[in-house]
Formats: sequence, C-alpha cells, structure tokens
Amino acid sequence: MCGIVGAVALRNIVPVLIEGLRRLEYRGYDSCGVAIVTAEGPQRVRSVARVAELDEQARETRFEGVTGIAHTRWATHGAPTVNNAHPIFSSNALAIVHNGIIENYESLREMLRGKGYEFVSQTDTEVIAHLIHSLYKGDLFAAVREAVQQLSGAYAIGVVHKDQPHTVVGARAGSPLVVGYGEGGNFIASDALAIAGSANRVSYLEEGDICEVTLEGVRIVDRAGNPAERPARDVQAYSGAVELGPYRHYMQKEIFEQPRAISDTIPADVAFDPVQFGENAGEVFKGIDSILILACGTSYYAGLTAKYWLESVAKIRTEVEIASEYRYRESVPNPRSLVVTISQSGETADTLAALKHAQSLGMEHTLAVCNVASSAMVRLTELKFLTHAGREIGVASTKAFTTQLVGLFILAVTLGKLRGHVNAQQEATYLKALRHLPAALNGVLALEPQIIAWSQEFARKENALFLGRGLHYPIALEGALKLKEISYIHAEAYPAGELKHGPLALVTEAMPVVTVAPNDALLEKLKSNMQEVRARGGHLYVFADADTHIASEEGIHVIRMPEHYGLLSPILHVVPLQLLAYHTACTRGTDVDKPRNLAKSVTVE
Ligand code: M6R
Repeated sequence: MCGIVGAVALRNIVPVLIEGLRRLEYRGYDSCGVAIVTAEGPQRVRSVARVAELDEQARETRFEGVTGIAHTRWATHGAPTVNNAHPIFSSNALAIVHNGIIENYESLREMLRGKGYEFVSQTDTEVIAHLIHSLYKGDLFAAVREAVQQLSGAYAIGVVHKDQPHTVVGARAGSPLVVGYGEGGNFIASDALAIAGSANRVSYLEEGDICEVTLEGVRIVDRAGNPAERPARDVQAYSGAVELGPYRHYMQKEIFEQPRAISDTIPADVAFDPVQFGENAGEVFKGIDSILILACGTSYYAGLTAKYWLESVAKIRTEVEIASEYRYRESVPNPRSLVVTISQSGETADTLAALKHAQSLGMEHTLAVCNVASSAMVRLTELKFLTHAGREIGVASTKAFTTQLVGLFILAVTLGKLRGHVNAQQEATYLKALRHLPAALNGVLALEPQIIAWSQEFARKENALFLGRGLHYPIALEGALKLKEISYIHAEAYPAGELKHGPLALVTEAMPVVTVAPNDALLEKLKSNMQEVRARGGHLYVFADADTHIASEEGIHVIRMPEHYGLLSPILHVVPLQLLAYHTACTRGTDVDKPRNLAKSVTVE
C-alpha cells in the first residue's frame, strides 16, 4: 500500500529516495513519484508503471536535488493515473506526499475553492496541499501544524516548500511515520526499511506528532505542540532484495519455504512456558478468563482456527472478530480478556485500530502474534509471539499463515498446561507433533504434480465451492480466499453442514467443490454432505487423509495427504489449497505476486 520516503541531505538524494520506493514496492502500489525542491518551485517525475520506470525517467532527465519527497500510491480517491500520483503540488510552491484517507476532504475542498484554489486531481491529498499552502506564512512547520488540526481521517504526510529548500515536514495520525538520522542527511519514511543504511537510527513518531527534518537535526512536537522526545533505535541493515532462486514467483517460493519457516518459528526450547510470550506472561495468563482475537483476512482465518484449539485444549472461551467490524461495534468489554491480535505485517490499519479500541475500553492485556518485530503492533502490545516466516513478498499470505497457526497452537497448549488441562503425556505428544511438522509438510509439498493436474481444470472455471467442517472450516475459507485473490475465480467456503441451507442451489456439473476431508470425528458427516453434492451433479475434489476411506470414482477426485495429523492437521491441509490456487492462477496468467487491486500491507481502513 502507499509508501513515503523523504530526505534532506548534502548530496543528490534522488537515488536514495528511489531506492526507498523500491524497497516498499512489495507492499503493492499503482503509481509512484518523486519531487525535489528548487528555488523556482518543486519539480517532480511520476509514473503509473513500476519504480524502475520512474528511475529511468529520473536518470534520463538528470533529475537531482538535495531535498525531496517520494511516494508509492495505492489508489483510494481517484483512479491510478499520473495526474493523481503523488507528490501533489499546490500553487507551484509546495509539494506533499500522503498515506491514508482524509474523511472531511469534501467540505475542505469547498472551503478552499471559495478561497480560489483550483483542484487538478481527484485525490483527497490535494486538499491537504492547498490547506497547508493557504496557511503558510513563512514557516512550513507552523502551517502544517495548523492544517492537520483541521483534518479528520488517517494520514502520514511529508511536505516541502520552495522557500525552505532544506526542510521536510512530516506529520502522522493513524498511519505510521518514522524519522531517520544519518550522516550527512536526515529522513522520514513510512517504514524504517525504506531508509535503512542511509539512516543508522530511527524514531517512531506517535499519534499526532509533527516533525521538522533539516540538515541540522530533527524537531518533534506532540499533538498539543509540546516538544517531544521519541526514543531513537538502531535500524536493522536492509538485507537486500529477496532472491527468487529456482521459483517462478515469490508465492511459490514462500509456499515451499514453509517447512523452514515453521521450524524457525518453533522455539528451540519450546516447553509451553508462558515466558515465551513475555516476562510477565505467566501473571497475565493466570488472571484472564477469556480471549478476544482481532485480525483481518488470512490472519482472521488463523484466529478462527485458533478458537478451536483454545477452547478444546485450554478450555478458555474465545471470540474471534474481524478487526474492521469490531472497531466500530458497540461491544461489552471484558477487562479479564486477553486481546490477541494476529498480523503478518503488524501495520494493518484496521487491526491496529481495533487493538487501540479494545485498549480504550479497558482491556489492557494484549498479545500480538506477528511477523515483523519492529512493527507498530508489536510495539503496542504487552506480550508478543514473533513468527519467523521471514519477509513475505507475495500479496497472498502463505508462510505467514502457517507460522501464525504454529504460534497460536503453542499459545493454546501453554494456556492449557497452566490451567491444568494438559497433562505431561499430552504435552509430550503435542511437542512431538510440532517437531515433526516440517517433515510432514515436505510430504505435502511433494503432492504438487497431482495438484498441477487439477489446476488445469480449475483454470477453466469461474466459480468454486470449498467445504470443511470443524477445525477445517477456516481452512476451507482460506482456500477460497487464496483462489479468489490470485486467480480471480469466484470462490466461497461453507461449513459442509450448511450446504443444504442454501448453497446447494448453486451446485451443478459446472461447479467444482473442493473438500477438506481429514480423518476426524466429523468425517462420516462430511461424507454425507459430499453425497449431497454428487447427487446434484457437482464434481468433488477431495483432499483426504491417508487413512480416510474415500475412493476416486466418477465425479469424485481424490488426492491423498501423506499422513493423518490430528489437531495440527489444518497446518498441513492448507498447503495443497495454496498450491491449487497458485497453479490455477499461473495457468490463467494472472500477476500472482501482485494481484490486481490488492496491496501487501493494508495501511488504510
Ligand atoms: O498483515 P496482516 O496479516 O494484518 O494482513 C491481513 C490481510 O490484509 C491479509 O491476510 C490478506 O487477507 C492477504 N492478502 C491474504 O492472502
């Protein structure tokens, strides 16, 4: 999603700005641009192609400057055109880049039109540009401060003005922004990753902060205008572009990395000890009587799976809520609930807002299951479990999901043990199953050739149904999401028992029905549901456990999973669904790693 980089330096800063944009590319964007400050006014290059094309434009036109701002845009207000790409100008004096959404942009636009400003883009950002310009009286910092007080919505901004050629002003509320300290230059960015190397240390701005970045240093004030100190921390060196190796896409690579990612995520000394979640986790866990899970998308499905584990293993009441719904819903807070947020990026705007909402309702015990140690979410929660999936580039989440499941399973067993519901023998069994997971996953990955054969048929379909029951219903949901997201085939998932309450009307010969069929207590029920599909001519594509008695026959295609895996079975059963979506998308020729309209890190609501 949108990304910001800004810099003030002694040298030409354009290559650093463009390199910053390149590092943010994986988040998803549809246009990009850079502006530098000159005495005649800001100058810019913009593109609706990739950052590489922007780079070419900059090189060809010898686009150079010592102060500048740059942006990758994921369109919200206004189509992804060059004209709507940031930086956005006001009166050829000021340039701005903006992440977020301004909710009162219509009334501000009317007010600014009344003052004679002309709007040349369809963006909400242009109102911020004109607003700051209208308030500018020789001090950009003061004008930005006054302007942001009139904004409602979410924003992180970087602003430059021709009359202050060695200054970048930044502000944030609802969208992240960091300031970076380097030698011979200072920076702003929406993610420290963008400026790592150029900046050695960064400070994370807090809600409502405004910063002024010059060659001499960085000044920060809080929402009330008081000088603010934000702790500076070392930036982890940028580890470079992730190599694709022998794979065709990052998604494929990430699917095949799962045995390694899971092995890295299971702590070497895993003993289902609360201390793995934080020093005071034991105390916190003893005081809670329920769990509230908040997440979006695939992470939400990890939460739904965890609910089964938490209730069956730890016997603790668990609710799972879609973050974007929870944050606006009137709910009954329980101060004895542990709020668990799940997120790959740790920057998802809805999940962060839901977490803050829960905290504002008095739920102070919070735990993040997250893949990014330096993320806002990890900084905001009392306890954490870091997944070690490594950088996930493909927009479709794969290894992040399975490592989240591992973390959540460890949480369930840890709580179960603490609450006296897991005995030593069960603990040993769970531990053994966890340790064997990477090897078991390798067995599942070996099914790829059979799944490729199925994907040829799926690629010709426009609809698909996914069925699962119990612990595997969230896996059916995840399988359907993967297929929609990257192949653009319409897919829906149902708990198989729900079929007869409506979706069965959709079943014809043209409808493939993917069925997740582990050998569990619900298998016989599931088989009856499969017969309901066959009786209507539907074609079943079944992922059955090795010891499940379901034979291939007319209209029933079966791929057999190498082993039966009990409670941890969802972690294995999701992998063939990832592969099915991936190969179907490849056959349809979609942009697998950057599916249309989607972004990796969803930092707007
Ligand atoms: O970074 P997060 O885990 O918070 O992201 C949540 C969703 O945006 C994400 O899982 C999304 O649904 C993926 N594209 C699914 O593959």
